[in-house]
Amino acid sequence: MGDRWWRDAVLYQVYPRSFADANGDGIGDLAGVTERLEYLEWLGVDGIWLNPIHPSPNVDWGYDVSDYTGVHPDLGTLADLDRLVTEAGARGIRIVLDLVPNHTSDRHPWFRERPDFYVWSDEVPNNWESIFGGGSAWKFDDERGRYYLHNFAPGQPDVDWWNPEVRTEFERILRFWFDRGVAGFRIDVAHALIKDAQLRDDPVIPGLGMRRRYSMYRPETHDILREWHALAREYAPPRLLLGEAYSLEFEEWASYYGAGDELDLAFAFVLTHANLDAAEMRDVVAEVEAVLPTDAWACWTGSNHDIGRFASRWAKGDDALARCALIVLLGLRGTPCLYYGDELALESGVVSEDRILDVASPSRDPGRTPMPWTPDGGWHDPWLPLTDTRRNVEDQRADAGSTLHFTRDLIALRRRLGDLRSGRYEALPAPDGAWVWRRGAGTLVAVNLGMSAVAIHGVDGSIATCTDRVREGERVTGRLELAPAQGAVVTS
Ligand code: NOJ
Ligand code: CA
Repeated sequence: MGDRWWRDAVLYQVYPRSFADANGDGIGDLAGVTERLEYLEWLGVDGIWLNPIHPSPNVDWGYDVSDYTGVHPDLGTLADLDRLVTEAGARGIRIVLDLVPNHTSDRHPWFRERPDFYVWSDEVPNNWESIFGGGSAWKFDDERGRYYLHNFAPGQPDVDWWNPEVRTEFERILRFWFDRGVAGFRIDVAHALIKDAQLRDDPVIPGLGMRRRYSMYRPETHDILREWHALAREYAPPRLLLGEAYSLEFEEWASYYGAGDELDLAFAFVLTHANLDAAEMRDVVAEVEAVLPTDAWACWTGSNHDIGRFASRWAKGDDALARCALIVLLGLRGTPCLYYGDELALESGVVSEDRILDVASPSRDPGRTPMPWTPDGGWHDPWLPLTDTRRNVEDQRADAGSTLHFTRDLIALRRRLGDLRSGRYEALPAPDGAWVWRRGAGTLVAVNLGMSAVAIHGVDGSIATCTDRVREGERVTGRLELAPAQGAVVTS
């Protein structure tokens, strides 16, 4: 395993505009992330994934890139990025960037200078629909007199990955960042790069709607991921390829790991679609474990800039349930990825109609509001509103009983216990409402997500971590009782 650093890592997603603002203009920036490295090191994370940092007209807040080797002036300069990589590295933290290869901005110079880099048609050739709504994924371009494909917003024309020169360009981009010490990429819509060569209609299944079989999920995309995998392995340590392979079909999702020669990690979004329910989640994890190729594992996440925050979706604002969710994410076999604020059990923010900046509907802005650093937020006139600062870093850092300290201690426990990091996962029989699993030989993880107290039999050891912290250190002899919304890690 050795140099595959992400196997031992806890990742932390930073939405750069909303994390920390060093120059006080209301927009988070790279220097802000650098200033907060002390905090992230204290928390114990090993890698930071930054959402796109490149120049962009911000139709989709960075996911419409106009220069893949630059830094957006709102966020800083290339020198700021280099400094972040160096200073994070000095603290044992790696920096992972976001690669957006499926589409560029329509303001990228390629769109005018290299039309052969995009997907065109004289007529609207098929029924493909834009993910962001608004109907057809084809838009007429006055200058060319032809239609171009945009699976997302019209300002995000899809790249033609059948063109070998496109591949060469992106290899150059990968190397540009890897050579600067960037530790890997999260790959946006990793399942969608190749479009059907014949541009066939996506099938419409009665009752289920459109299935994106031809506009996305083409088998030839695997060839590209394999090429990048080989390229990433030329570096020491190898660079991480973490895919947004968005499929809720287990086998399709797992296929993006190839035979261990494509993605190193893929977000298991299927878990985020489950309720915080023991039976539902246990079934999801059983399927995930069953389809993964040997020696591969999932990247577990509960929140991100698209789906919002698990403290709202799963825990409905209940801190005890949010701690159970943290035990799940950090206690499963895989690499956990926390979203900034998850460690505080931060809920999604409130963004009034007149403040919405997102191109998608429903708006994803509530999941992108600024990080609350202090009781008054610590921001000056931020780009998105910060209305609720009850959960903030300063208060929670000063309180050993806070969720922040709980998260930190859980991360530290994971680092200490080889079982929790890499032990095999085995679900154990459990009463209704509870989900119990063993990791490796000697570690047991249990969460009670139901409404009544449960007793789990056959458990011996001591409680290493508990959502209810007063129980830590308690001896368990044969029977572990858990109140509703309680979870624990028991070591033997
Ligand atoms: C997935 C990204 O996470 C999302 O924010 C973006 O809008 C789409 N891909 C398009 O790039
Ligand atoms: Ca700023």
